[in-house]
Amino acid sequence: DLSPIDKAKFAAAKCASLLVEDGMKVGLGTGSTAAWMVRCLGERVREEGLRITGVPTSTRTADLARQLGIEIVSLDEAKWLDLTIDGADEFDPELNLIKGGGGAHLLEKIVATASDRMVVIADAAKEVAQLGAFPLPVEVVPFGWQTTRTIIEETLISMDVLGRTTSLRQNGSQPFVTDEGNYILDLHLNRIGNPRQLAVTLNQIAGVVETGLFIDICDMVVIGGAEGQVELRD
Ligand code: A5P
Repeated sequence: DLSPIDKAKFAAAKCASLLVEDGMKVGLGTGSTAAWMVRCLGERVREEGLRITGVPTSTRTADLARQLGIEIVSLDEAKWLDLTIDGADEFDPELNLIKGGGGAHLLEKIVATASDRMVVIADAAKEVAQLGAFPLPVEVVPFGWQTTRTIIEETLISMDVLGRTTSLRQNGSQPFVTDEGNYILDLHLNRIGNPRQLAVTLNQIAGVVETGLFIDICDMVVIGGAEGQVELRD
């Protein structure tokens, strides 16, 4: 039996998995909601003989897809995708997102922006009027990361952003390391007044690889409810 939150995630995942058509190349997101979607696709592959090529956004998702018998290839082999389905940590009324709670936002963004369409699957708790309560993940190169952190903090002050605390994401007593071998700084901002401007400004800092802000990338959000109902936003 699923908890209410898992029922909601499953409902959104199931609904979005039905958007996948025979022969499609599909970006496979990362996280607990995306994992439900990958399981739903695995079921369609087994039961309907659906033929798809998946491009995973993390080693975790690659392992799961492989176990379920979904054919996976690299993005360079696929070149361009029909659809990417992924979770999110927050989405706002413009369908801008914060992602990266699972530390995979760099590959997620590369895959999503190489797709005709990106669909986000989420439970209703991820919907916010303004992004920023969820700490913003920023992937940084390990070389000089403390200097990069100082520059980020000074940038936040100059931009008059509300919260300015940053923390290095940990994995036990060690820094968390992404699939690309980088670190993650989580920015505790409370509210992000101008997400587009913040994304552009942070990406200009040399040690920053990519932020978890997804601006104008998501085309539709499928919101799942605890009773198994879904609502679409686009
Ligand atoms: C992974 O890096 C994130 O972008 C996930 O999409 C996000 O954390 C959502 O995860 P859940 O579906 O587990 O909430």
